[in-house]
Amino acid sequence: MFYNPKATNVLLKDYKKAFQPSVFLKQYYEAFSPSDISLYLKQKLLCFHDSFLTVPNGLKVLDYGAGPSIASAISAATKASDIVLAEYAEENIEFLDQWLNCEPNAFDWSPYFTYVVQELEGGGEEQVKERETKVRKLIKGLVHCDIRKDPPIQQGYDTQYDVVMCSLVLEGASSTQEEYCSNVARLVQLVKPGGSIFYYGVENKIGYYTIGDRSFPNIHITDELALKAFRDAGVDDASLKECPVGDCNVKFIFIGGKRS
Ligand SMILES: C[S@@+](CC[C@H](N)C(=O)[O-])C[C@H]1O[C@@H](n2cnc3c(N)ncnc32)[C@H](O)[C@@H]1O
Repeated sequence: MFYNPKATNVLLKDYKKAFQPSVFLKQYYEAFSPSDISLYLKQKLLCFHDSFLTVPNGLKVLDYGAGPSIASAISAATKASDIVLAEYAEENIEFLDQWLNCEPNAFDWSPYFTYVVQELEGGGEEQVKERETKVRKLIKGLVHCDIRKDPPIQQGYDTQYDVVMCSLVLEGASSTQEEYCSNVARLVQLVKPGGSIFYYGVENKIGYYTIGDRSFPNIHITDELALKAFRDAGVDDASLKECPVGDCNVKFIFIGGKRS
């Protein structure tokens, strides 16, 4: 699933030019019912669900590097007063916008709403529908970001958030382990002191992953390095949970903690 043997050997670094949201969504997110959702996504959704159980209500939440996906916002909506989705590639922002505006060709996230609200939260069909409406209402910004820049987010949104969540961004956006650590620090700067960071990452021994026939770099980060990067960035109590998927080359990790 994460590697297509027919993909190009050339690693494409510029997500703005090379990332194809429709191919990405089809390969990683396509699901016709909650049971079709892949194991790695179910694990990710569970990590965000569990994390939002631990925080109070009324929070300003940022999903950093959301891609074309609103999946993480489903659990965030249980505690958020507003949600900002930040993304690097313009085309992904267009996909998010299509969903926000209920456009007919927008990606169908309903199996994800059903999975989170019914299976993880124990809600009913009515609550599933209510959550879709709630997420749309809570999303107050679709904005640009670039983790390599200072500030790493569009002007006007360069503030601090109660919760910053981020999934599968820094391993692809960093070329070296040093760069990964400084990118972690820039991400953590977006969290208010006392606020929370929820980061879903990947330990990818191969050094790349594929989207359709395209290959993208994914630097190899170990558990130890990831945890140290978040602690050094000021998340003193950062803890790490492993989310294995049965492929010895790829292991997903979830890091959560509070900025001191
Ligand atoms: C594998 S996708 C993950 C998308 C989404 N968070 C998810 O989990 O499905 C990687 C994301 O990182 C974003 N990205 C790449 N380079 C970036 C950069 N320099 N700054 C911020 N985001 C970047 C891409 O545009 C893309 O949306």
